[in-house]
Amino acid sequence: MRILLIVSGSVAAYKALELTRLLRRDGDEVMAVLTAGGARFVTKEALAAITGQRVHDDLWAAEAEIGHIRLARWPDLIAVVPASADLLAKMAHGLTDDLATCVLLATRAKVLVAPAMNPAMWAHPATQANMAALRARGVIVAGPDDGPMAEPESGPGRLMEPPALRDAIRAVLADGPLAGKHVVVTSGPTHEPIDPVRYIANRSSGKQGHAIAGALAALGAKVTLVSGPVAQPDPPGVRVVRIESARDMLAACEAALPADAAVCAAAVADWRTARAADQKLKKVPGEAPPPLDLALNPDILATLSAAGPSRPRLVVGFAAETENVVANAVTKRAKKRCDWIVANDVSGDVMGGAENAVHLVTDAGVEDWPRMAKEEVARRLAARIAEALQ
Ligand code: CTP
Repeated sequence: MRILLIVSGSVAAYKALELTRLLRRDGDEVMAVLTAGGARFVTKEALAAITGQRVHDDLWAAEAEIGHIRLARWPDLIAVVPASADLLAKMAHGLTDDLATCVLLATRAKVLVAPAMNPAMWAHPATQANMAALRARGVIVAGPDDGPMAEPESGPGRLMEPPALRDAIRAVLADGPLAGKHVVVTSGPTHEPIDPVRYIANRSSGKQGHAIAGALAALGAKVTLVSGPVAQPDPPGVRVVRIESARDMLAACEAALPADAAVCAAAVADWRTARAADQKLKKVPGEAPPPLDLALNPDILATLSAAGPSRPRLVVGFAAETENVVANAVTKRAKKRCDWIVANDVSGDVMGGAENAVHLVTDAGVEDWPRMAKEEVARRLAARIAEALQ
């Protein structure tokens, strides 16, 4: 595959060299565009030596030789590694004041960005708004990692390590058994507001749902992950839509259709407050606590299973049970009219834990899978989904 690597200004730019080495070892062709900021941290000569290609760093020189349009058309994927706060802001606003930004605006190739910056810059609302705009346009975001920075500080903002970046790129370019298929996955809890500062939630970490989204993408699927508030990083190669409430989750899932399959792994809150207060509820001395008047939330799994002509061919639900796990799951599958149910016993440390012991309930019967890492459950389930969609 052809990968155009855009190296922008960050002390982590040296990792772009190692990433190039890994990609070329896998047989990919890599060409590099170096921004003025990037050139402060790695040299054009080093990039040329490691890509084995001429490095482009000047808009007007590039126009004379190859042109930014031809550069934009050349790759299967543009990887911005590292992506500085400045370059991400320019991308979000469509600025074109150098070669990298012109290429990024002119391309129709998939674009992956790997942010690298100080944690305060990453957390800044301006950066977060830029990232939301880029994600909404289908830009794939890899990382950043959480960890020590060049300055004596630690937090989210570290560039992902080259092997993980290579995997993220591989997932985007994957040509596996699910290539050309679209899968919608729900993950995490939902938050149902009580008032502007309080909400109803549950213990779901999003680990299992995010792992499933990543495993499907690794098999080549286009994946839309609709996620409640979680601390999980975005799985490589996956489009992530962030929501808070069950009603928002349903709207995002319906907006993502058509899909070949849907996997509902989210722990959706069954109830919301009938009417969330506009102002923070106050304690009034001598008065009883305010009653929580609850209303039933929509059932996303049941709605997708009954979506008529836009129903995904395969709808997979989860069953979180604390007793009679398999019997309850069999009943749930019939009630929700989904094709498969992955049943798990959540009475132990499953919610938030690293492992899961599940039973797969299909019309052919019940399979008991041994206890294994959630990533392994995800890989097995993704492989089964690939088989079923063949
Ligand atoms: N689910 C959903 N929307 C809801 C509730 C649940 O999409 N409002 C989905 C979950 O994502 C899961 C399946 O339905 O795939 C079963 O969820 P679970 O919590 O086990 O069951 P409930 O339907 O909530 O039933 P109960 O709480 O009575 O066991």
